[in-house]
Amino acid sequence: MADKRPDSMKRITGRELADAFINEQVEAIRAQVGDKKVLLALSGGVDSSVVAALLIKAIGDQLVSIHVNHGLLRKGEPEQVIKVFQDEMKANLIYIDATDRFLGLLEGVTEPETKRHIIGEEFIKVFAEEAAKLDGIAFLAQGTIYPDILESEKGIKAHHNVGGLPPELDFELVEPLKYLYKDEVRVVGTALGLPDNMVYRQPFPGPGLGVRCPGAITRDRLEAVRESDAILREEFANAGLAGKVWQYFTVVPDFKSTGIKNGERAFEWPVIIRAVNTKDAMTATIERIPYDLLDRIEQRIVAEVKGVNRVLYDITPKPTGTIEYE
Ligand code: XMP
Repeated sequence: MADKRPDSMKRITGRELADAFINEQVEAIRAQVGDKKVLLALSGGVDSSVVAALLIKAIGDQLVSIHVNHGLLRKGEPEQVIKVFQDEMKANLIYIDATDRFLGLLEGVTEPETKRHIIGEEFIKVFAEEAAKLDGIAFLAQGTIYPDILESEKGIKAHHNVGGLPPELDFELVEPLKYLYKDEVRVVGTALGLPDNMVYRQPFPGPGLGVRCPGAITRDRLEAVRESDAILREEFANAGLAGKVWQYFTVVPDFKSTGIKNGERAFEWPVIIRAVNTKDAMTATIERIPYDLLDRIEQRIVAEVKGVNRVLYDITPKPTGTIEYE
């Protein structure tokens, strides 16, 4: 039978309860791990970041974190992981820039599911290769949270943190967040000193910007996705929408259209803006972005993003559109 959240466990709603949880977990982690080493795949997402911060507090450099940059992260993300964990928290962090390896394998691949498989499988491969270079690892930490357990129990989806790992990574698990709901993970993350933009960041798919660069990924179109996404996030933050809209991002489709830039013909890509609200990601409604904000975003994108001459706004709810494009 799967783990159950203890009935006696209070909902972690504020700082005091978060501190109590942290103290409890620090003791529990030390008791479980002893003087052994723990390995963690640190993506920079909310759950793995909170696990990292908690384990650093509990066991310091007995935690070895590996951050694999598959080249499909958003602007500034790998830099932030390094700044927060290596520079500020003094984590034992291994940073692997595997951009060339991933983009090489993805070259010319247009089928969305094939792209996803390549990214997922290569990620595990890179992680396993790095882990194999380390000595004395006895545990694997994971950012499993309570909804993951509930969903895999109900057969809704396979628990994304479990399965698919090669046998050489078959370590005993450390899962300190496994009874927490997402809102509680965020409260704990803040109490551990993680920055708001890490703790409250919007959901980001494992295959990253790869699913927002439909068709065969090229470096220049990927760069247009990354730069336009950064502008959108900045403008949403300035407009006070960052914590309000559930998910918002840009997509750069694989076609060009005729336009004019500086009085000359410009045959370039469009950028599609998507902004949606949802409770459970099964259905979604679109965010009605104010037109003055859309205007500002449009002006910045065509001026600042190389190779782009148009901006489109996707008004499709889910269904019929999914949130992502692939
Ligand atoms: P769709 O596109 O299916 O997306 O409407 C629903 C939500 O799931 C996120 N998503 C993913 N998250 N790995 C993830 O961790 C994935 O492969 C993945 N694909 C989609 C998507 O961003 C949205 O929030």
